[in-house]
Amino acid sequence: MNMRVINSKGANLKPDLIRKISEVTSQESSLSYRSVEILKKTNLILAIDGKEKICGWIEYYKIWKNWWGLSTLFVFPRYRGQKIGKAILIPAGVKTLKDKKIFSSVTDKKIGQVLQNYGFRETKLNELSTGILLKVMLVRYGNLKSFIKLFKLSKKGLQYFVKC
Ligand SMILES: CC(C)(COP(=O)(O)OP(=O)(O)OC[C@H]1O[C@@H](n2cnc3c(N)ncnc32)[C@H](O)[C@@H]1OP(=O)(O)O)[C@@H](O)C(=O)NCCC(=O)NCCS
Repeated sequence: MNMRVINSKGANLKPDLIRKISEVTSQESSLSYRSVEILKKTNLILAIDGKEKICGWIEYYKIWKNWWGLSTLFVFPRYRGQKIGKAILIPAGVKTLKDKKIFSSVTDKKIGQVLQNYGFRETKLNELSTGILLKVMLVRYGNLKSFIKLFKLSKKGLQYFVKC
């Protein structure tokens, strides 16, 4: 498939697209909720097909010092199973953050496996520094809707990965 990626600051994307991404994160049970405000401040790598349609995205964001987060991987249902997540978006995120330490939490076991293939190792929250945990909680889950969704996600089973 003819596919390219673009790497953009949320603030540079069209407001309609940012609203759509926020809506997807609200509805999709496996994703953390991202408000429009959070998305405007973050970075998104978008996968775009030959007809200029957006197939999916992954988000990366600064946490603290040299630590960055890689999250919110999503591929629209009609494009799934074509390795857009595994062979395009995850590697694009890892390449973008190649000199950084990366934290990622996942709900999908297969995605956890893919991360391990890219050099991530599974970790536990209590092995991470308080600074990182506090920053992630404040910046990413500091509003009630995000926090409630995080609570639901953690009941589903979250796995945590780092690449240092
Ligand atoms: C998870 C998700 C991003 C995978 O995207 P994708 O581009 O379809 O995945 P890929 O084609 O790169 O495949 C990755 C693996 O997931 C499997 N997979 C996941 N969803 C699939 C689907 N709907 N159809 C077929 N395979 C699927 C693939 O078989 C592949 O497994 P493999 O490593 O054994 O080959 C996508 O299903 C999605 O957006 N899900 C909802 C949001 C979500 O769960 N995000 C991840 C949070 S951790």
